[in-house]
Amino acid sequence: MRELPEWFGIPAMLARYVDELSTLPTWLALDDELVIGFLATKRHTPVASELYVPGLLPHYHRQGIGRRLLTRAEEALRDDGVRLVQAQTLGPSHPSAAHRANARLLCGTGLPAARRTTRNVGPG
Ligand SMILES: CC(C)(COP(=O)(O)OP(=O)(O)OC[C@H]1O[C@@H](n2cnc3c(N)ncnc32)[C@H](O)[C@@H]1OP(=O)(O)O)[C@@H](O)C(=O)NCCC(=O)NCCS
Repeated sequence: MRELPEWFGIPAMLARYVDELSTLPTWLALDDELVIGFLATKRHTPVASELYVPGLLPHYHRQGIGRRLLTRAEEALRDDGVRLVQAQTLGPSHPSAAHRANARLLCGTGLPAARRTTRNVGPG
């Protein structure tokens, strides 16, 4: 996460994410034995889960790894009885192109937009 200061640069939020990810089901992307990316999920009910937080080292962006992480996580959740998957992300109108990547990635999976707000609903 420290390699992605634009997304995880606020120390209090970084600490919270690290704390949470130590207990959440998390899929890892590896290059040999190097962890290059992650996607955590948060189970809310036996049938509903949240795609919680993805991150990938910048050098590996835009090579289809984020999409593969999402696909693997969704397959595993489906096999485990999950029927509803949700995610919270900055919207496609966010001024930072870098921050739009996650929204675009999620839109590409076919997840429909269920709620839009201008209020900050992130951790912290
Ligand atoms: C979000 C993230 C995991 C995406 O991983 P990735 O491996 O680069 O994404 P993929 O290569 O699988 O891209 C899948 C699709 O997402 C969209 N996308 C990904 N990066 C994008 C970008 N920078 N700009 C626009 N669309 C983008 C595209 O639709 C892309 O499909 P395409 O390449 O066929 O056009 C990665 O950009 C990342 O780690 N970002 C920083 C952390 C972050 O944003 N976390 C979420 C908020 S905490």
